[in-house]
Amino acid sequence: MICLGIESTAHTLGIGIVNEKGKVLANEKSNFTTEKGGIHPSKAAQHHVLMYQFVLDRALKTAKIKPKDIDIVAFAQGPGLGACLRVGAVAARSLASLLKVPLIGVNHCIAHIEIGKLTSGFKDPITLYVSGANTQILALASGRYRVFGETLDIGVGNFIDVIGRSMGMGFPAGPTIDKLAKKGKNYIELPYTIKGMDFAFSGIQTKINQLVQTGKHKTEDLCFSAQETVFAELTEATERAIAHINKNEILLTGGVAANSRLQEMLKIMSKERGVKFAVVPMALAGDNGAMIAWQGILEQKANYKMKDTAINQHWRTDDVDVTWL
Ligand code: ATP
Ligand code: FE2
Repeated sequence: MICLGIESTAHTLGIGIVNEKGKVLANEKSNFTTEKGGIHPSKAAQHHVLMYQFVLDRALKTAKIKPKDIDIVAFAQGPGLGACLRVGAVAARSLASLLKVPLIGVNHCIAHIEIGKLTSGFKDPITLYVSGANTQILALASGRYRVFGETLDIGVGNFIDVIGRSMGMGFPAGPTIDKLAKKGKNYIELPYTIKGMDFAFSGIQTKINQLVQTGKHKTEDLCFSAQETVFAELTEATERAIAHINKNEILLTGGVAANSRLQEMLKIMSKERGVKFAVVPMALAGDNGAMIAWQGILEQKANYKMKDTAINQHWRTDDVDVTWL
């Protein structure tokens, strides 16, 4: 069984091809980026339309398959930006109907978790899912991935991109901040907002924007201080979750999982706690089509029944019944 997955929830148009054993045959993508400023949903959607054929052809070529070899088409049905989601949905519907194969709409956040489980081999982890729009601590309980902790305001990736923008960086700012933070030496005191297993970033964001405007601090020090603060919040909340919930694996997934300092902090904490720790591989950390394809395979094997193919911009992780485990 071969599934082709289409990801288009935000900045990335991804097309992945995965077989039923979880082998990634292709994982092609085109990212909408900017040199300055954030992303505009309609511009990102236009990028996806323009790049679709190119990315599709490349994916088929890399996987060394013909369209007729595709058994299932999966697409990210939500959550995400409406304009971007619609591009993937239209493409997936027409491809599935042309090939006369099942169409499966999957939840993007769940796909981030399941691809991490596939690559780590973890069966029942506590997942720290960190991306642009989402920041959640999740674990399976009574048939759903329940949210045990989450951001009270913005996603940590969004926080990173906004402070990056105030320092003159383009989108995404994460990789640049990751690099610059390594050169930072002076820790600048910032607000630290954590409530039980929930955390918040907008106060820190406002403070950093104010500090940038004073022009008194080195960008490296600001990046270093921002990372130390928000990643300490995430590590503290995850540690509290692992202390409360009886699980012994921690999985880090989502676009911000690529961050070297966040990985390091969680690794140290996991070692001290005596639990296993894994990070999703770089190519599968940020938005990608392979994770959508793998989720398609899982749901098809569990006899997925399509209700409708309308996009769902605000589809929550804990709204999905986990039928495939
Ligand atoms: P979601 O819909 O799951 O919220 P998303 O649209 O934000 O996903 P992802 O590709 O999962 O997309 O995550 C993108 C985020 O990851 C961006 O905010 C980007 O700055 C951040 N990021 C990428 N690399 C790094 C890094 N090395 N350090 C920190 N952040 C990073
Ligand atoms: Fe994502």
